[in-house]
Amino acid sequence: MSVNAVVGVQWGDEGKGRIVDYLAGNAEMVIRFQGGDNAGHTVINELGKFGLHIIPSGVFNPDTMNIVSAGTVVNFDTMAGEIDNIEKITGKKVENVFIDRRAHLIMPYHQLLDGAEESKRSDSQKIGTTKRGIGPCYSDKASRMGLRAGDLLDEEWLRSRIRLLLGKKNRDLEYYGLKTFTEDELMQKCAQWKERFGSYIIDSVPVVREAVESGKNILLEGQLGIMRDNDWGIYPYTTSSNPTVAGACNGAGIAPKYIDKVYGVIKAYSTSVGGGPYMTELFDEDGDRLRDIGGEFGVTTGRPRRCGWLDLVAADYACYMNGVTDLALTKLDVLDSFEKIKVCTGYMIDGEYYSYLPDTAYQERAKPVYETFDGWMCDTTGCRTWDELPQKAKDYVLEIEKRLNTHITYISVGPERDQLIVR
Ligand code: GDP
Ligand code: IMO
Ligand code: MG
Repeated sequence: MSVNAVVGVQWGDEGKGRIVDYLAGNAEMVIRFQGGDNAGHTVINELGKFGLHIIPSGVFNPDTMNIVSAGTVVNFDTMAGEIDNIEKITGKKVENVFIDRRAHLIMPYHQLLDGAEESKRSDSQKIGTTKRGIGPCYSDKASRMGLRAGDLLDEEWLRSRIRLLLGKKNRDLEYYGLKTFTEDELMQKCAQWKERFGSYIIDSVPVVREAVESGKNILLEGQLGIMRDNDWGIYPYTTSSNPTVAGACNGAGIAPKYIDKVYGVIKAYSTSVGGGPYMTELFDEDGDRLRDIGGEFGVTTGRPRRCGWLDLVAADYACYMNGVTDLALTKLDVLDSFEKIKVCTGYMIDGEYYSYLPDTAYQERAKPVYETFDGWMCDTTGCRTWDELPQKAKDYVLEIEKRLNTHITYISVGPERDQLIVR
């Protein structure tokens, strides 16, 4: 029995949702450890197709306890919508999702401020946030001006907190010419949330500790990928939390010594949504084909994703920073019809060769150095074993494995749950 983490090792949208859904089959607990409803995790299983945002991808296994942990920021309105949608599609009540009382509340003003702050940024400085209020909410958390899920349970305390922060929040809103809020309005919103979610707000520490110490199977589900990590990603074009395994330990309240496996999810090519440098981005027909064939449009915002070849330098950095023990390589099938496939193995920056990933300003000036592979030019979507894969696809996978010095344990060849090769 073990504690395993699933993290994105690119710019997000690597296919974490489908891998968590698969691994959750024998997980007793799934913990979403950071981020909020900026996530868009697609899960396709026998119950239907779901775009999950804040609900952990273990929700479909009724025996799995799902926890939205202390490291997250929660918008209870979108959580309610998401649960309603799952209940409508599956015809079953969702009763296995709990929220740690330390999780921060995304308030209506956070969303408004997110949009307004983004609109003040010049084109070249735009982060392209999901406008879900993530940055403003984590900012309030860091400046001790946040509201937490547990605050909903104590009306007097909640009112005193709202009173404390409202003046400043309204000043910020006024600065941007936005609607301000009254104490009663916010109290009313919070009362609605308490009514619906009050009994699901828990102190997760004793429950998680018991699960860890009794050797239960626990899965830690990350959002986004390391390239948009607040410390180690392409700052300032990052999210406001840490989608790494270190973030998993912190957000879930599980010490590093308990982590067994770190599954790094990596797409067979790459995508990025939002601003910032992205060295292998393609502006040609290959980029358009990756987007079309891979269906690369945001689950949360519907935006077309920027597409490009696999960046092994960035992935190597990600594997090291996360201590990835196993890789899950997704969307191999998307490359089925490409005659030539490239991977980035280094960069040229200001006339100098870089074999490692430098910080943002250098990435802005980096030109990728590629190696080219022959494509396999046949359909892999029906393959269910390693042996069934065409040799050239195996060569591609083995080269990635060699370069990243990390075992590729899962290979997906389609979005459905069973379109997965275990190796
Ligand atoms: P996440 O945010 O990391 O969970 O990833 P997303 O759900 O945002 O993006 C992954 C997309 O690729 C979703 O539309 C999935 O249904 C789809 N997908 C996942 N694995 C595969 C695969 O192996 N092949 C194909 N063709 N699509 C896949
Ligand atoms: P999943 O979990 C892809 C990007 C946004 C923006 C930056 C900051 O599905 O991989 P934020 O709203 O977090 O303040 O935006 O991060 N971003 C994502 N990109 N997938 C996601 O989630 C993302 N969540 C945020 O586009 O550039
Ligand atoms: Mg996504």
